[in-house]
Amino acid sequence: MVRGYIFACTGASQKECFERKLFGTSKLYGAAAMRVKKNDFLFLLNLNSDLLYGVFKAVTDGRFNIKPEAWNGAYPYQVRVEPIGEIVPLKDAKKLLKKLGVGRFSVMGKATVLKILELYRPSNIPMNEWYRFLTQAEGSASLTVSSEPKSWQLFGQTQKMKEEDVEEVPQLQATTLWDFPRQSYGKTPKGDNKYAGVTPAELIWNLVWRYTEPGELVVDPMCGSGTTLDVCKEEGRKAICYDIAPPASRSDIIQNDARKIPLPDNHVDLVFVDSPYGDNIRYNEHPDCIGKISSEQERFYDELEKVIKECHRILKPGKVLGWLIGDQWVKKEFTPVGFLLYERFLKYFETVDLIMIVRRGQASHTSLWYNRARRFNFYLRGFKYLFIMRKPLLEKKENETPRVINWTYYERNNKKKVD
Ligand SMILES: C[S@@+](CC[C@H](N)C(=O)[O-])C[C@H]1O[C@@H](n2cnc3c(N)ncnc32)[C@H](O)[C@@H]1O
Repeated sequence: MVRGYIFACTGASQKECFERKLFGTSKLYGAAAMRVKKNDFLFLLNLNSDLLYGVFKAVTDGRFNIKPEAWNGAYPYQVRVEPIGEIVPLKDAKKLLKKLGVGRFSVMGKATVLKILELYRPSNIPMNEWYRFLTQAEGSASLTVSSEPKSWQLFGQTQKMKEEDVEEVPQLQATTLWDFPRQSYGKTPKGDNKYAGVTPAELIWNLVWRYTEPGELVVDPMCGSGTTLDVCKEEGRKAICYDIAPPASRSDIIQNDARKIPLPDNHVDLVFVDSPYGDNIRYNEHPDCIGKISSEQERFYDELEKVIKECHRILKPGKVLGWLIGDQWVKKEFTPVGFLLYERFLKYFETVDLIMIVRRGQASHTSLWYNRARRFNFYLRGFKYLFIMRKPLLEKKENETPRVINWTYYERNNKKKVD
Protein backbone atom coordinates (compact mmCIF):
# COMPACT_ATOMS: atom_id res chain seq x y z
CA MET A 1 0.00 0.00 0.00
CA VAL A 2 1.46 3.38 -1.00
CA ARG A 3 0.81 6.09 1.57
CA GLY A 4 2.51 9.26 2.64
CA TYR A 5 2.38 12.14 5.08
CA ILE A 6 3.65 15.73 5.25
CA PHE A 7 5.27 16.83 8.49
CA ALA A 8 6.07 20.51 8.98
CA CYS A 9 8.85 22.43 10.67
CA THR A 10 10.05 26.00 10.99
CA GLY A 11 13.42 27.56 10.37
CA ALA A 12 14.12 27.02 14.06
CA SER A 13 13.02 23.38 14.33
CA GLN A 14 14.31 21.95 11.02
CA LYS A 15 17.85 21.29 12.27
CA GLU A 16 16.54 19.11 15.10
CA CYS A 17 14.32 17.14 12.66
CA PHE A 18 17.37 16.32 10.54
CA GLU A 19 19.82 15.70 13.37
CA ARG A 20 17.50 13.39 15.26
CA LYS A 21 16.03 11.87 12.10
CA LEU A 22 12.71 12.37 13.80
CA PHE A 23 9.61 14.22 12.62
CA GLY A 24 7.00 15.41 15.09
CA THR A 25 3.80 17.38 15.33
CA SER A 26 1.39 18.88 17.86
CA LYS A 27 -2.05 17.69 18.97
CA LEU A 28 -3.65 19.58 16.07
CA TYR A 29 -2.33 16.99 13.59
CA GLY A 30 -1.58 14.27 16.14
CA ALA A 31 -4.31 11.84 15.09
CA ALA A 32 -3.11 11.86 11.46
CA ALA A 33 0.56 11.53 12.46
CA MET A 34 -0.29 8.55 14.68
CA ARG A 35 -1.76 6.82 11.61
CA VAL A 36 1.62 6.87 9.82
CA LYS A 37 2.90 3.32 9.32
CA LYS A 38 6.44 2.02 8.93
CA ASN A 39 7.59 2.40 5.28
CA ASP A 40 5.17 5.25 4.48
CA PHE A 41 6.77 8.03 2.41
CA LEU A 42 7.33 11.23 4.36
CA PHE A 43 8.11 14.82 3.41
CA LEU A 44 9.10 17.79 5.53
CA LEU A 45 7.57 21.19 4.83
CA ASN A 46 9.56 24.14 6.15
CA LEU A 47 6.85 26.71 6.79
CA ASN A 48 9.32 29.63 6.75
CA SER A 49 11.45 28.83 3.71
CA ASP A 50 8.48 27.24 1.86
CA LEU A 51 10.63 24.24 0.87
CA LEU A 52 9.35 20.66 0.82
CA TYR A 53 12.15 18.23 1.68
CA GLY A 54 11.96 14.66 0.37
CA VAL A 55 12.09 11.79 0.09
CA PHE A 56 12.01 10.17 3.56
CA LYS A 57 10.75 6.81 4.69
CA ALA A 58 9.09 6.13 8.05
CA VAL A 59 11.13 3.58 9.97
CA THR A 60 8.61 3.34 12.80
CA ASP A 61 4.84 3.72 13.00
CA GLY A 62 3.60 7.05 14.39
CA ARG A 63 4.16 6.99 18.17
CA PHE A 64 3.71 9.24 21.15
CA ASN A 65 6.90 10.71 22.60
CA ILE A 66 9.59 8.57 20.94
CA LYS A 67 11.90 11.34 22.19
CA PRO A 68 9.98 13.33 24.83
CA GLU A 69 12.74 15.93 25.05
CA ALA A 70 12.75 16.73 21.28
CA TRP A 71 11.64 20.30 20.43
CA ASN A 72 11.22 20.87 24.19
CA GLY A 73 8.16 18.64 24.17
CA ALA A 74 6.20 20.78 21.67
CA TYR A 75 5.73 18.04 19.05
CA PRO A 76 5.14 14.73 20.85
CA TYR A 77 3.38 12.82 18.00
CA GLN A 78 6.48 11.48 16.30
CA VAL A 79 7.90 9.17 13.65
CA ARG A 80 11.48 8.04 13.15
CA VAL A 81 12.63 8.67 9.58
CA GLU A 82 15.44 7.90 7.21
CA PRO A 83 16.17 9.71 3.95
CA ILE A 84 16.14 7.79 0.68
CA GLY A 85 19.16 9.02 -1.23
CA GLU A 86 20.04 12.70 -1.28
CA ILE A 87 17.40 14.99 0.22
CA VAL A 88 16.06 17.49 -2.28
CA PRO A 89 14.06 20.63 -1.39
CA LEU A 90 11.16 21.59 -3.68
CA LYS A 91 10.46 25.31 -4.02
CA ASP A 92 7.01 26.95 -3.59
CA ALA A 93 5.85 24.08 -1.45
CA LYS A 94 2.67 25.64 -0.05
CA LYS A 95 1.39 26.43 -3.54
CA LEU A 96 2.15 22.87 -4.62
CA LEU A 97 0.33 21.32 -1.65
CA LYS A 98 -2.63 23.63 -2.20
CA LYS A 99 -2.83 22.58 -5.86
CA LEU A 100 -2.67 18.93 -4.85
CA GLY A 101 -5.29 19.47 -2.13
CA VAL A 102 -2.91 18.03 0.47
CA GLY A 103 -3.26 18.95 4.13
CA ARG A 104 -1.81 17.62 7.33
CA PHE A 105 -5.12 16.38 8.73
CA SER A 106 -4.91 13.05 6.91
CA VAL A 107 -2.49 10.53 5.47
CA MET A 108 -2.11 10.82 1.68
CA GLY A 109 -3.23 8.02 -0.63
CA LYS A 110 -1.41 6.35 -3.50
CA ALA A 111 -2.24 8.75 -6.35
CA THR A 112 -1.09 11.86 -4.47
CA VAL A 113 2.06 10.21 -3.13
CA LEU A 114 3.05 9.00 -6.61
CA LYS A 115 2.47 12.50 -7.97
CA ILE A 116 4.76 14.01 -5.31
CA LEU A 117 7.41 11.30 -5.77
CA GLU A 118 7.44 12.10 -9.47
CA LEU A 119 8.43 15.69 -8.68
CA TYR A 120 11.61 14.43 -7.00
CA ARG A 121 12.56 12.15 -9.92
CA PRO A 122 15.95 12.90 -11.52
CA SER A 123 15.24 13.75 -15.17
CA ASN A 124 17.36 10.86 -16.53
CA ILE A 125 15.47 8.13 -14.64
CA PRO A 126 12.07 6.85 -15.83
CA MET A 127 9.24 6.90 -13.26
CA ASN A 128 8.95 3.12 -12.87
CA GLU A 129 12.66 2.82 -12.13
CA TRP A 130 12.52 5.76 -9.76
CA TYR A 131 9.59 4.21 -7.91
CA ARG A 132 11.35 0.84 -7.72
CA PHE A 133 14.42 2.56 -6.29
CA LEU A 134 12.37 4.43 -3.69
CA THR A 135 10.46 1.39 -2.52
CA GLN A 136 13.42 -0.96 -2.44
CA ALA A 137 16.10 1.38 -1.10
CA GLU A 138 17.12 1.06 2.51
CA GLY A 139 16.98 4.45 4.21
CA SER A 140 20.43 6.01 4.34
CA ALA A 141 22.14 6.43 7.66
CA SER A 142 23.74 9.74 6.68
CA LEU A 143 21.74 12.73 5.55
CA THR A 144 22.86 14.93 2.69
CA VAL A 145 20.72 17.78 1.49
CA SER A 146 21.04 19.11 -2.03
CA SER A 147 21.94 22.78 -2.07
CA GLU A 148 19.93 23.21 -5.32
CA PRO A 149 16.20 23.53 -4.61
CA LYS A 150 14.11 22.06 -7.39
CA SER A 151 11.15 23.70 -9.08
CA TRP A 152 8.03 21.52 -9.38
CA GLN A 153 6.45 23.87 -11.97
CA LEU A 154 8.68 22.23 -14.61
CA PHE A 155 6.56 19.09 -14.34
CA GLY A 156 3.47 20.57 -15.98
CA GLN A 157 -0.05 19.87 -14.65
CA THR A 158 -0.37 19.42 -10.89
CA GLN A 159 -3.88 19.03 -9.56
CA LYS A 160 -5.84 17.35 -6.79
CA MET A 161 -5.71 13.60 -7.33
CA LYS A 162 -8.71 11.28 -7.06
CA GLU A 163 -8.10 9.13 -3.99
CA GLU A 164 -10.02 6.02 -3.04
CA ASP A 165 -8.21 4.72 -0.01
CA VAL A 166 -7.64 7.86 2.05
CA GLU A 167 -8.67 7.30 5.62
CA GLU A 168 -10.95 9.95 7.11
CA VAL A 169 -9.62 11.45 10.34
CA PRO A 170 -11.92 13.73 12.36
CA GLN A 171 -10.73 17.15 13.51
CA LEU A 172 -10.78 18.74 16.94
CA GLN A 173 -13.82 20.94 17.50
CA ALA A 174 -12.93 24.55 18.27
CA THR A 175 -16.22 26.02 19.57
CA THR A 176 -18.84 25.01 22.12
CA LEU A 177 -21.36 23.99 19.43
CA TRP A 178 -20.76 20.53 17.96
CA ASP A 179 -22.79 19.14 15.10
CA PHE A 180 -22.13 15.67 13.73
CA PRO A 181 -24.34 14.81 10.74
CA ARG A 182 -23.34 11.11 10.85
CA GLN A 183 -23.06 8.71 13.79
CA SER A 184 -19.68 7.38 12.67
CA TYR A 185 -16.64 8.25 10.55
CA GLY A 186 -13.92 6.30 8.76
CA LYS A 187 -14.10 2.82 7.30
CA THR A 188 -14.82 0.76 10.40
CA PRO A 189 -18.12 1.30 12.23
CA LYS A 190 -17.96 2.64 15.79
CA GLY A 191 -20.73 1.29 17.99
CA ASP A 192 -23.96 0.27 16.29
CA ASN A 193 -25.83 3.06 14.53
CA LYS A 194 -29.07 1.07 14.99
CA TYR A 195 -28.69 1.03 18.80
CA ALA A 196 -31.33 3.28 20.41
CA GLY A 197 -29.52 6.29 21.88
CA VAL A 198 -26.17 5.53 20.21
CA THR A 199 -23.57 8.31 20.68
CA PRO A 200 -21.92 10.15 17.74
CA ALA A 201 -18.45 8.60 17.48
CA GLU A 202 -16.82 11.93 16.64
CA LEU A 203 -18.00 13.38 19.95
CA ILE A 204 -16.10 10.65 21.83
CA TRP A 205 -13.13 11.07 19.45
CA ASN A 206 -12.94 14.75 20.40
CA LEU A 207 -12.90 14.02 24.14
CA VAL A 208 -10.34 11.25 23.69
CA TRP A 209 -7.99 13.54 21.74
CA ARG A 210 -8.50 16.58 23.93
CA TYR A 211 -8.08 14.89 27.29
CA THR A 212 -5.91 11.78 26.85
CA GLU A 213 -2.71 10.69 25.20
CA PRO A 214 -2.09 7.42 23.37
CA GLY A 215 -1.81 4.50 25.78
CA GLU A 216 -3.94 6.13 28.51
CA LEU A 217 -7.06 4.54 30.00
CA VAL A 218 -10.63 5.52 29.10
CA VAL A 219 -13.69 4.10 30.90
CA ASP A 220 -17.34 4.15 29.80
CA PRO A 221 -19.59 2.72 32.53
CA MET A 222 -22.80 2.84 30.40
CA CYS A 223 -21.36 2.08 26.99
CA GLY A 224 -24.41 0.62 25.17
CA SER A 225 -23.27 -0.63 21.77
CA GLY A 226 -19.58 0.09 22.46
CA THR A 227 -18.86 3.32 20.54
CA THR A 228 -16.27 4.40 23.13
CA LEU A 229 -14.48 1.05 22.90
CA ASP A 230 -14.25 1.22 19.10
CA VAL A 231 -13.02 4.83 19.01
CA CYS A 232 -10.39 4.11 21.66
CA LYS A 233 -9.14 0.99 19.87
CA GLU A 234 -8.50 2.99 16.70
CA GLU A 235 -6.84 5.86 18.56
CA GLY A 236 -4.45 3.67 20.55
CA ARG A 237 -6.09 4.24 23.94
CA LYS A 238 -6.85 1.50 26.47
CA ALA A 239 -10.55 1.24 27.22
CA ILE A 240 -12.72 -0.59 29.74
CA CYS A 241 -16.41 -0.44 28.95
CA TYR A 242 -19.41 -1.68 30.90
CA ASP A 243 -23.16 -1.79 30.48
CA ILE A 244 -26.01 -3.15 32.59
CA ALA A 245 -27.09 -5.25 29.56
CA PRO A 246 -24.29 -5.54 26.98
CA PRO A 247 -25.41 -6.50 23.46
CA ALA A 248 -24.99 -10.27 22.86
CA SER A 249 -22.65 -9.52 19.93
CA ARG A 250 -20.11 -7.66 22.09
CA SER A 251 -18.07 -9.96 24.33
CA ASP A 252 -15.63 -7.06 24.93
CA ILE A 253 -18.25 -5.15 26.97
CA ILE A 254 -18.40 -6.14 30.65
CA GLN A 255 -21.77 -6.55 32.36
CA ASN A 256 -21.82 -4.20 35.35
CA ASP A 257 -23.95 -1.67 37.19
CA ALA A 258 -22.43 1.81 36.79
CA ARG A 259 -23.26 2.63 40.40
CA LYS A 260 -20.38 0.34 41.50
CA ILE A 261 -17.44 0.25 39.10
CA PRO A 262 -14.91 -2.55 39.81
CA LEU A 263 -11.82 -0.34 39.46
CA PRO A 264 -9.44 1.17 42.04
CA ASP A 265 -9.49 4.84 43.10
CA ASN A 266 -7.52 7.44 41.06
CA HIS A 267 -6.87 5.02 38.21
CA VAL A 268 -8.48 6.35 35.03
CA ASP A 269 -7.52 9.14 32.56
CA LEU A 270 -10.95 9.88 31.06
CA VAL A 271 -14.52 8.77 31.78
CA PHE A 272 -17.25 9.19 29.19
CA VAL A 273 -20.93 8.64 29.96
CA ASP A 274 -23.95 8.95 27.69
CA SER A 275 -26.55 8.05 30.30
CA PRO A 276 -30.31 7.57 29.88
CA TYR A 277 -32.11 10.95 29.87
CA GLY A 278 -35.15 9.50 31.63
CA ASP A 279 -37.46 6.63 30.71
CA ASN A 280 -38.05 7.74 27.08
CA ILE A 281 -36.06 4.82 25.56
CA ARG A 282 -36.50 1.11 26.38
CA TYR A 283 -32.88 0.02 26.35
CA ASN A 284 -33.40 -3.45 27.84
CA GLU A 285 -35.40 -5.37 30.42
CA HIS A 286 -32.75 -5.38 33.14
CA PRO A 287 -34.37 -4.36 36.45
CA ASP A 288 -31.36 -2.15 37.36
CA CYS A 289 -31.46 -0.16 34.13
CA ILE A 290 -31.62 3.51 35.16
CA GLY A 291 -33.45 4.16 31.89
CA LYS A 292 -36.59 2.79 33.58
CA ILE A 293 -36.80 5.75 35.97
CA SER A 294 -38.59 8.93 34.88
CA SER A 295 -36.48 12.11 34.84
CA GLU A 296 -39.49 13.80 36.49
CA GLN A 297 -38.60 11.90 39.69
CA GLU A 298 -35.88 12.94 42.15
CA ARG A 299 -34.82 9.29 42.31
CA PHE A 300 -33.51 9.50 38.71
CA TYR A 301 -30.96 12.15 39.78
CA ASP A 302 -30.14 10.27 43.02
CA GLU A 303 -29.27 7.12 41.06
CA LEU A 304 -27.20 9.05 38.48
CA GLU A 305 -25.42 10.83 41.34
CA LYS A 306 -24.21 7.41 42.48
CA VAL A 307 -22.67 6.97 39.00
CA ILE A 308 -21.16 10.49 39.15
CA LYS A 309 -19.59 9.64 42.53
CA GLU A 310 -18.07 6.45 41.12
CA CYS A 311 -16.69 8.30 38.08
CA HIS A 312 -15.10 10.80 40.47
CA ARG A 313 -13.60 8.02 42.60
CA ILE A 314 -11.96 6.13 39.70
CA LEU A 315 -10.62 9.24 37.89
CA LYS A 316 -7.09 10.43 38.56
CA PRO A 317 -7.06 13.93 40.10
CA GLY A 318 -7.02 16.57 37.37
CA LYS A 319 -8.62 14.22 34.82
CA VAL A 320 -11.88 14.68 33.00
CA LEU A 321 -15.42 13.28 32.89
CA GLY A 322 -17.52 13.94 29.75
CA TRP A 323 -21.27 13.37 30.25
CA LEU A 324 -23.94 13.69 27.58
CA ILE A 325 -27.55 14.38 28.59
CA GLY A 326 -30.68 15.99 27.12
CA ASP A 327 -33.76 17.74 28.53
CA GLN A 328 -37.29 16.39 28.34
CA TRP A 329 -40.55 17.89 27.11
CA VAL A 330 -43.41 15.45 27.19
CA LYS A 331 -47.17 15.92 27.38
CA LYS A 332 -46.89 19.66 28.02
CA GLU A 333 -44.32 19.28 30.83
CA PHE A 334 -40.74 20.52 30.52
CA THR A 335 -38.03 18.92 32.68
CA PRO A 336 -34.60 20.62 32.68
CA VAL A 337 -32.77 17.30 33.05
CA GLY A 338 -29.43 18.89 32.15
CA PHE A 339 -29.62 21.67 34.76
CA LEU A 340 -30.86 19.30 37.45
CA LEU A 341 -28.02 16.86 36.84
CA TYR A 342 -25.46 19.66 36.54
CA GLU A 343 -26.19 20.60 40.16
CA ARG A 344 -25.16 17.10 41.18
CA PHE A 345 -21.86 17.30 39.23
CA LEU A 346 -20.93 20.50 41.05
CA LYS A 347 -20.78 18.60 44.36
CA TYR A 348 -17.74 16.65 43.10
CA PHE A 349 -16.28 18.31 39.98
CA GLU A 350 -15.22 21.65 38.61
CA THR A 351 -16.45 22.69 35.17
CA VAL A 352 -14.07 22.67 32.22
CA ASP A 353 -16.77 23.73 29.75
CA LEU A 354 -20.33 23.10 28.57
CA ILE A 355 -20.82 22.00 24.97
CA MET A 356 -24.08 22.01 23.03
CA ILE A 357 -24.52 18.99 20.78
CA VAL A 358 -26.95 19.34 17.88
CA ARG A 359 -29.58 16.57 18.18
CA ARG A 360 -29.84 14.61 14.98
CA GLY A 361 -31.53 11.39 14.00
CA GLN A 362 -34.43 12.01 16.43
CA ALA A 363 -37.66 10.10 15.72
CA SER A 364 -39.46 13.46 16.18
CA HIS A 365 -37.46 15.19 13.45
CA THR A 366 -40.22 14.79 10.84
CA SER A 367 -42.35 17.45 9.13
CA LEU A 368 -45.39 16.15 11.08
CA TRP A 369 -43.69 16.93 14.42
CA TYR A 370 -42.27 20.24 13.18
CA ASN A 371 -45.82 21.31 12.25
CA ARG A 372 -47.20 20.16 15.60
CA ALA A 373 -44.49 22.11 17.44
CA ARG A 374 -45.49 25.28 15.58
CA ARG A 375 -49.26 24.74 15.84
CA PHE A 376 -49.37 23.77 19.50
CA ASN A 377 -46.66 26.17 20.64
CA PHE A 378 -43.96 23.87 21.95
CA TYR A 379 -40.38 23.13 20.92
CA LEU A 380 -38.72 19.97 19.73
CA ARG A 381 -35.44 19.21 21.45
CA GLY A 382 -32.69 20.67 19.24
CA PHE A 383 -29.61 20.06 21.41
CA LYS A 384 -28.07 18.02 24.19
CA TYR A 385 -25.53 19.09 26.78
CA LEU A 386 -22.04 17.69 26.97
CA PHE A 387 -20.74 18.51 30.44
CA ILE A 388 -16.96 18.47 30.58
CA MET A 389 -16.04 18.23 34.24
CA ARG A 390 -12.65 17.94 35.92
CA LYS A 391 -11.82 16.11 39.15
CA PRO A 392 -10.06 18.82 41.17
CA LEU A 393 -6.36 18.38 41.83
CA LEU A 394 -6.56 19.66 45.40
CA GLU A 395 -9.30 20.35 47.89
CA LYS A 396 -10.78 23.83 47.18
CA LYS A 397 -9.09 26.52 49.31
CA GLU A 398 -11.39 28.63 51.46
CA ASN A 399 -11.37 32.43 50.94
CA GLU A 400 -9.58 32.38 47.57
CA THR A 401 -9.30 35.93 46.18
CA PRO A 402 -11.29 36.47 42.96
CA ARG A 403 -9.31 36.71 39.69
CA VAL A 404 -8.71 40.10 38.14
CA ILE A 405 -8.90 40.03 34.33
CA ASN A 406 -7.22 42.74 32.27
CA TRP A 407 -9.52 42.52 29.24
CA THR A 408 -8.29 43.58 25.83
CA TYR A 409 -11.20 45.29 24.09
CA TYR A 410 -11.40 44.88 20.32
CA GLU A 411 -13.09 47.20 17.85
CA ARG A 412 -15.62 45.57 15.50
CA ASN A 413 -13.13 45.86 12.65
CA ASN A 414 -10.74 43.62 14.66
CA LYS A 415 -8.23 46.40 15.31
CA LYS A 416 -6.90 46.32 18.83
CA LYS A 417 -8.12 49.27 20.88
CA VAL A 418 -5.40 51.25 22.60
CA ASP A 419 -5.95 50.88 26.34
C1 LIG B 1 -27.60 6.34 25.80
S1 LIG B 1 -27.17 4.67 26.00
C2 LIG B 1 -25.46 4.65 25.72
C3 LIG B 1 -25.12 4.64 24.25
C4 LIG B 1 -23.68 4.32 23.95
N1 LIG B 1 -22.79 5.40 24.30
C5 LIG B 1 -23.51 3.93 22.49
O1 LIG B 1 -22.90 4.71 21.73
O2 LIG B 1 -24.02 2.90 22.08
C6 LIG B 1 -27.31 4.46 27.76
C7 LIG B 1 -26.90 3.10 28.25
O3 LIG B 1 -26.94 3.07 29.69
C8 LIG B 1 -27.13 1.73 30.06
N2 LIG B 1 -27.50 1.65 31.49
C9 LIG B 1 -28.66 1.99 32.06
N3 LIG B 1 -28.61 1.77 33.39
C10 LIG B 1 -27.38 1.30 33.66
C11 LIG B 1 -26.71 0.91 34.86
N4 LIG B 1 -27.33 0.92 36.04
N5 LIG B 1 -25.43 0.49 34.75
C12 LIG B 1 -24.80 0.43 33.56
N6 LIG B 1 -25.38 0.77 32.39
C13 LIG B 1 -26.66 1.23 32.44
C14 LIG B 1 -28.20 1.26 29.10
O4 LIG B 1 -28.25 -0.16 29.02
C15 LIG B 1 -27.78 1.94 27.80
O5 LIG B 1 -27.04 1.07 27.00
